[in-house]
Amino acid sequence: MLAGKLALVTGAGSGIGRAICQAFAKEGAMVAMADVNKDGVHQVHESLKSISEGNHQPFTVDVSSSASVATLMTDIRDRYMAVPTIAVNSAGITRDTYMLKMKEEMWDEVINVNLKGTFLLNKAVSQAIVENKLSGGSIINLSSIVGKVGNVGQTNYGASKAGVIGFTKSAAKEVAKFNIRVNAILPGFIKTPMTEKVPEHLMQITQMLIPMTKLGEPEDIADACVFLASDKSRYITGATLEVSGGLFM
Ligand code: NAI
Repeated sequence: MLAGKLALVTGAGSGIGRAICQAFAKEGAMVAMADVNKDGVHQVHESLKSISEGNHQPFTVDVSSSASVATLMTDIRDRYMAVPTIAVNSAGITRDTYMLKMKEEMWDEVINVNLKGTFLLNKAVSQAIVENKLSGGSIINLSSIVGKVGNVGQTNYGASKAGVIGFTKSAAKEVAKFNIRVNAILPGFIKTPMTEKVPEHLMQITQMLIPMTKLGEPEDIADACVFLASDKSRYITGATLEVSGGLFM
């Protein structure tokens, strides 16, 4: 479904980002995978070799830094002689604690990576598409079900992910005239290193609340990304797609 397209995936070195890279490669895309974790992204790069012979390349980036994002875009253009027309923002972090105990740095860090990072990448990719007069693109931002309903211990994370929803809808309105679509996915609880940090008893309670009675797999999110990246979703923009097994619908 994505044959010949160049797709940029951030947070590519782990969990959901990793599964997205693999799904995109299976669908014939060239995958530019970027992460702050150099080792992680190189391991994912290796894993793609058994999936497809496409031109997949690893990059290091800190999405919260505009200079780093600018360097990433230059590096991608140098290596591919092309601009990505698909981009997924999967880079994200948690710094959980109760609001009354939350240090200012924990707030800033989460907002900078999850929300500012989303802005920086959407801007950079949209700018590149417009400047090169390409026919359009698809950007997918990873929000969270927590951005919709909130969560104890996650005021910083919940605010950042609610921000991603507002950002996505606003950006979608602005760049629709360039045929760039911007959508958000709201995962529920997905089995990745991020959720491994959640205490076991809380995960058990959460699982009981999920109508489909099980946690999600990274591939469940990756398949939704394939759809939103492809022309099968050509008339969908500014949407929020919940991939949560029905949790908090
Ligand atoms: P993960 O922790 O497995 O992977 C996140 C990746 O982002 C890591 O490889 C990390 O190195 C990278 N990263 C962190 N800071 C970065 C930065 N400044 N620049 C570039 N890369 C950076 O997490 P997971 O579970 O794969 O999450 C992916 C996305 O999905 C995140 O945005 C997360 O908030 C969101 N999400 C995850 C859920 C889950 O249940 N796992 C639920 C809802 C949303």
